[in-house]
Amino acid sequence: MNVIEVKPDIYWVGAVDWAVRDFHGYVTPSGTTYNNFLIMDDDITLVDTVKHEFCEVMEANIRRLTDPSKIKNIVVNHIENDHTGGLERIIALAPNAVIHVTKKGREGLARFFDISKWTIKEVKTGDTLKTGKYTLTFLETPMLHWPDAMMTYVAQAKLLFSQDAFGQHMASVARFDDEFTASASMVELEDFVVDYYANILMPFGKLIKAKIEEVRKKNLDIDMIAPDHGIIWRKNPGRVLEMYMNMARGNTNQRIALIYDTMWHSTENMALPIIRGIRDEGMDCKVIKLRATPMSVAIKEFWKSRGAIIGSPTLNNEVFPSVAEFMVHLKGLRPKDRLMSAFGSYGWGGGAVKWLYSTFKEMGLKTVEPGVEVQYWAKLQDDEKCYEFGRRFAKEVKLYHDGFVEPSNI
Ligand code: FEO
Repeated sequence: MNVIEVKPDIYWVGAVDWAVRDFHGYVTPSGTTYNNFLIMDDDITLVDTVKHEFCEVMEANIRRLTDPSKIKNIVVNHIENDHTGGLERIIALAPNAVIHVTKKGREGLARFFDISKWTIKEVKTGDTLKTGKYTLTFLETPMLHWPDAMMTYVAQAKLLFSQDAFGQHMASVARFDDEFTASASMVELEDFVVDYYANILMPFGKLIKAKIEEVRKKNLDIDMIAPDHGIIWRKNPGRVLEMYMNMARGNTNQRIALIYDTMWHSTENMALPIIRGIRDEGMDCKVIKLRATPMSVAIKEFWKSRGAIIGSPTLNNEVFPSVAEFMVHLKGLRPKDRLMSAFGSYGWGGGAVKWLYSTFKEMGLKTVEPGVEVQYWAKLQDDEKCYEFGRRFAKEVKLYHDGFVEPSNI
């Protein structure tokens, strides 16, 4: 893919990864992009690099614009491997380039690379770099997504390089939001935003809210947000900011995600009357069978729902392994503002539902108890019990959801 001018003399020189389906354990059915940018100012400045496998693509893109040895500055907004995989190659071509990175970023680079011969300038919030007609201002954003992270704002171009934030794992021929929505829907694009946020940024909602407020207080004039993954926001950057603020405030949809696995279809059989009960309370229910669904999709659907019912059979007195895997993953993402319950079948001793409630409590999530359990196979009276459980949980989710005053808008 050729270079693309995103602002006068500022070019996208990144790579589209059509084939990646496993991004450090995150399933990416639509691939991704590694966006990086070359500022062709008096002092040529590269903003971020790409994943190692795409070094040659990036280098070829840079060569379409200039000899890489002319690069004077390299801004490293984030040191994770998908953005610094091309750093050694660029330094080899431009050994005198100055790397601009946060203190934590420098420490991290020293772990990944031999930096003894590199020229590194540590930067912090408010520091600037004048490249000619453009001045870059750095804004530290620790934990978005690693401790080293920062964003770079170019005032004269009204452009924010936001690294991971506001990105999407999606390979596309479109580079901009308006190009994407010319042939696909905004709903599709927004779903990629939610997917990315849920799987990567969910633990950092409080920080995201504080950082967006900080940016707003600075009254930065921004008409383009360029993340390091996915499309660049030029038509409506305000929409992605609004989505992030909404998610960071705990807003979501008044609906339930029923996420389960099953051994002999007994737990699955219980799910049907539960779903009917939820639907009869007028609430939508998204159903996810874990071994049939990528983990990242299950996490996204959980995040898009105010309530979640987790279903698991008991295996050897324990929760079913695929359900345990999901819960370990979810626990690490530290979700908040979700109401939980559980159901499941067992043969003799039981244990899965108890394990689930104990895990919900460790995570600090509110629960509706008791859950519902059935021995071996649900009989007619068990169906009624499951149906009533679904209705009761839906009522509780409605009440809980009403406590969130902001409109749902994700
Ligand atoms: Fe795209 Fe945190 O790296």
